[in-house]
Amino acid sequence: NEIKIFCPATVANLSCGFDIIGLCLEGIGDEMIFRKKEAPGITITQITGADLPYETSKNVSGVAAQALVDHLQLDYGFEIEIHKKIKVGSGIGSSAASAAGAVYGINVLAGNPLTKKELVPFSMIGEAIASGSLHADNVAPALLGGFSLIRGYEPLDLINIESPSELHVVVIHPHIEVKTSEARAVLPKEVPLKSAITQWGNVAGLVAGLYTEDYDLIGRSAVDVIVEPARKNLIPHFEELKQSALENGALNSGISGSGPSIFALCKGNQVAEKVKDKFNELGKEFYTSFDVHCSKVNNTGV
Ligand code: HSE
Repeated sequence: NEIKIFCPATVANLSCGFDIIGLCLEGIGDEMIFRKKEAPGITITQITGADLPYETSKNVSGVAAQALVDHLQLDYGFEIEIHKKIKVGSGIGSSAASAAGAVYGINVLAGNPLTKKELVPFSMIGEAIASGSLHADNVAPALLGGFSLIRGYEPLDLINIESPSELHVVVIHPHIEVKTSEARAVLPKEVPLKSAITQWGNVAGLVAGLYTEDYDLIGRSAVDVIVEPARKNLIPHFEELKQSALENGALNSGISGSGPSIFALCKGNQVAEKVKDKFNELGKEFYTSFDVHCSKVNNTGV
């Protein structure tokens, strides 16, 4: 009647895959504890690591949990503890981890009536209260692990892709604020056909590269000619960090989610460690405070 779970961080967009591709990170995530209770309803009993609302209807986990409980028509309730390790507003899916964790934990204690894939829409409802829009590129990989490709939203059509075994991800999180709403406001409303062709060529290349474990193809496809040019000025020193990743052998580098985190994809641990060291060195020069994470892709999810 009690379960403790790990809710992983995620990198959304993956450059060309704006709003449709995300990946799940290994070794970085929140902890959540769930307890069944007799009285119906969701009660958030403890939150550590972030200043978040306890009121169910204002809390990402609370809203996602309630949506699932309503759907399952459960006549009992749950207590939830949330221990945040992923910084809010970091660009590595903090709210998504809370939303994905909430529906996963409830589903397990309810006897697993739904598959992880079926849980995605309920976690999206939770995440929407934080990000203001219904998107699945963080919650889907947080639940399913590996890479998630969202082919369509109406209806939700989700494809889960396992990560190539040697793929590593390095993420630097400068402790500066970039609001998702602001990062969405700077986006172009219309896209020239030429850019669209480049972008969808890259998306296709990225997906083909993931399936065939073709690291060079992954590298040359993880390019974003639409969103990154509009957003990069919101992140001081983005260009220098990206260049340093490329010079040190990364396959490619881009903005994680809506920023301010910056990710680099690398083949093998050795290159990843080099990129990580460089990010640490430059981070000290550029920012008053930051952190760097380096790991493989988590193929399991929550
Ligand atoms: N895909 C979203 C964006 C992720 O880039 O705006 C942010 O939550």
